[in-house]
Amino acid sequence: MLFPRQEGKGTLHLLLCVLLLAAWKTGSGQVHYSVPEEAKHGTFVGRIAQDLGLELAELVPRLFRVASKGHGDFLEVNLQNGILFVNSRIDREELCGQNLECSIHLEVIVDKPLQVFHVEVEVKDINDNPPVFRAREQRFFIPESRLVDSRFPIEGAADEDIGTNALLTYTLSPSDYFSLDVQASDELSKSLSLELRKSLDREETPELHLLLTATDGGKPELEGTVQLLITVLDVNDNAPLFAQAGYRVHLLESTANGTLVTTLNASDADEGVNGEIVFSFGSDVPLNIQKNFKIDSSSGEIRLIGRLDYEETKSYEIQVKAVDKGNPPMSNHCKVLVKVLDVNDNAPQLAITPLSLPVREDSPLGTVIAFVSVSDRDSGVYGQVTCSVMPPIPFKLVSTFKNYYSLVLDSALDRESDTPEHHLLITAVDGGKPELTGTTQVKITILDVNDNAPEFERSVYKVSLFENAPNGTLAVIVNASDLDEGVNKDIVYSFNTDMSADTLSKFHLDPVSGYISVKGNIDFEDTKLYEIQVDATDKGNPPMAGHCTVLVEILDVNDNVPELVIKSLSLPVLEDTPLGTVLALISVSDRDSGANGQLTCTLSPHVPFKLVSTFKNYYSLGAPKTDLMAFSPSLPPGPIGGDREEQLNVDGDISAKMLRNGGYSGIGLNS
Ligand SMILES: *[C@@H]1O[C@H](CO)[C@@H](O)[C@H](O)[C@H]1NC(C)=O
Ligand SMILES: *[C@@H]1O[C@H](CO)[C@@H](O)[C@H](O)[C@H]1NC(C)=O
Ligand SMILES: *[C@@H]1O[C@H](CO)[C@@H](O)[C@H](O)[C@H]1NC(C)=O
Ligand SMILES: *[C@@H]1O[C@H](CO)[C@@H](O)[C@H](O)[C@H]1NC(C)=O
Repeated sequence: MLFPRQEGKGTLHLLLCVLLLAAWKTGSGQVHYSVPEEAKHGTFVGRIAQDLGLELAELVPRLFRVASKGHGDFLEVNLQNGILFVNSRIDREELCGQNLECSIHLEVIVDKPLQVFHVEVEVKDINDNPPVFRAREQRFFIPESRLVDSRFPIEGAADEDIGTNALLTYTLSPSDYFSLDVQASDELSKSLSLELRKSLDREETPELHLLLTATDGGKPELEGTVQLLITVLDVNDNAPLFAQAGYRVHLLESTANGTLVTTLNASDADEGVNGEIVFSFGSDVPLNIQKNFKIDSSSGEIRLIGRLDYEETKSYEIQVKAVDKGNPPMSNHCKVLVKVLDVNDNAPQLAITPLSLPVREDSPLGTVIAFVSVSDRDSGVYGQVTCSVMPPIPFKLVSTFKNYYSLVLDSALDRESDTPEHHLLITAVDGGKPELTGTTQVKITILDVNDNAPEFERSVYKVSLFENAPNGTLAVIVNASDLDEGVNKDIVYSFNTDMSADTLSKFHLDPVSGYISVKGNIDFEDTKLYEIQVDATDKGNPPMAGHCTVLVEILDVNDNVPELVIKSLSLPVLEDTPLGTVLALISVSDRDSGANGQLTCTLSPHVPFKLVSTFKNYYSLGAPKTDLMAFSPSLPPGPIGGDREEQLNVDGDISAKMLRNGGYSGIGLNS
C-alpha cells in the first residue's frame, strides 16, 4: 500500500480513510469506501451494514444482498458481521485502465421493505505496475557522421499505475556519446530522445549498448528498462592507411624482369566498399617508373617490368596511392624507395688520345706517346680498373691519375733494326668477380729519322776497260742502299768533288742509277788506272752520305805503231866500207805496253846489211859488202794484225820488221 508523501488536504483524508478503514457518506448519501487494489482476500473494506444503518440481525431476514454491475465478486459482505471485504483480487488497471477515478459501484438491496443503497468502493491505486517498455530493446541505426546535438527519439515506457505511481523518471546508463533528453508537458507523456553529445566513430565504437531505465514515483519505486542498441553506420570517413610510412627496397640491377619488388599493405578502418582499397601509382608518375614498375591495384604488389641499370638510375622514388571505393573516396599516399645495387655488368672501356703519333725513332725515353683513359660505368671496386700493355717493351703505361694513364716510351726505338710498326694491346681489367675486361689495339708507327747513311754494296769496285772503249761504254754500276725510308732512303750518286778534273772529264755518272760510263777518250798510254770517288747522298734532312771507290784499270790495246828513229846515219855508204862499220844507230819504240810494245827488228832479206841489237830496242846497222844501190825499197806500210811476218820497206832503203805478240808494225827507214 502506498502512502504518498505528497502533502495536501485530500491526501491526508485518503490516508485517514485507509488507516482507519473509516467510511463516510458522500454528499449524495452514498456510502463511500476505498480499498487498495491487489488487496488480499478478506481484506476489510468497511462496515457496510452498520454504515447503511442496518442491524446485523436483520441482514439475513431481509435478504441483504449486494449487486455489482458487471464487477462480479471482487467484494463480498459477511452477513454475520456486516463487513464488506475483498473477495477476489482487484486490479485497478484491469478494472479502470488509466482512469484516474476507479471505483466499484455496489448496489445493496434489502427487502422487507425493499431498500436500495448505493455504495461506492474506490479502488485505490497501488504501485503494482512497473514502468514497461514496449520492447525489450530498441534499435537505432545512426550514421557516424551525425552531428553532435542530433536527437533520436526513444519510445518511452508506460506505467499502468496512475498518479505518482505512474510518474516516470528516466535514467540512461552512462555514455560518453549520448545523453537523455526528456521533454515534459502537462498533458502528454514525456518525450524522450537520445541526444548525441560526442561524435560517433564506427571504427572505434561500432555499437553502443545503453540501458534506459524508467523509474516510477511509487513507493517502493518500480523500474523498467530497455536496451538501446545503437548500431553506428559506416561513413567513408577513414582514408586507407599504409602499414608503413615508406617502403625501402634494394634491388640488384641484374634483377630479373617480373620480380616482386614489394607488397604494399594498407588498411582502411571503414567497412564495405568504404574499406576496399585500390592501389595505384600517384598521378604524374615519371615515365621511367611507368616503364619499369607495375602495381597490382588490388594486391598492392609492385613488380619489375623493365630492366634496371644502376649506371643509368641509382634509385627510384615511387609515389603510390591507396584509394578506397567510398563515395566520395578517400585516399592516402606513400613512397617506395627502390635503391638499385650495382652489379659488375660493365666492361671497362678504353679511350686513346694520341699525343705524339707517329713516334720519331729518335724520341727520347719518357716521351708520352698517348693518353689512355679507362672508364668503367660500374661503381666501387667494380669500376676500379687496372691497365696493362702487351708486349711490355718498348712502351709502358704510367698511371697519372685514377683511371688515367700515359703510354710512355720506355726503351730506345730503332725503326730499322726493330720494327716500323708496333702493335700494342692495352688491356683494362676491373675489380669485379668475375672481372670484366676491355681491350684496345694501338698501332704505333715509328717515324723514320735520317739516321742511316747510304751504304754501298762494296767499298771498292774494281773494273777494267780497254782503252779503246767507245764513248758511253758502261764501266760499272755502283749500288748503295739506305735503311731509312722515304726521302731518307732516296739516294743521289755523285762524283766526289775532290777528284781530279782529268778523271772527272773521262767518266759520266748517272745520279739516279749509279751507272758510270766512259765519257772521254781514255788512253792507256796516258793513264793506266783511274780512281773514282763516288758519293751516295740521301735526301734526308740533314742528308747523310756514303762513299765508295771505283778503280778503273785501263787495258792496253795495240794502237800504237812502233816508231823507228835513226839516230845517226852515215850515207852514202862507201862500197868498200869495211864490214862491221856502223852505218846508223837505230832506236825503236812502241807506246803500247806488254807484248804490244815488245819490238823485234829485222832487216829485209837480201839486204847486205846487218842489224845488231845493242840494247833493248836499240840497234846498230852494220855495213854491207854489196852494192847498196841495188837495194830498192819495196812494200808500203801494211795493216796491223795477224801472225804474219811481213817486211816493211821504209823509203826503199832499210826496212825493219817488228814483231809483237800477234801482230807487227812496219816502219821505214829514211835513207
Ligand atoms: C598488413 O598489415 C597488417 C597489419 O599491419 C598485418 O596484419 C598483415 O599481415 C600485413 N600483410 C602483409 C601481406 O604484410
Ligand atoms: C618484361 O616482361 C614483360 C612481361 O613478361 C614484357 O612485357 C616486357 O617487355 C619485359 N620487359 C623487358 C625489358 O624485357
Ligand atoms: C742494289 O742493291 C740492292 C740491295 O743491296 C738490290 O736489291 C738491288 O737490286 C741492287 N740494284 C742493282 C741495280 O743491282
Ligand atoms: C761522248 O758522247 C756524248 C753524248 O753521247 C757527247 O756529249 C760527248 O761529247 C762525247 N765525248 C767525246 C769525247 O766524244
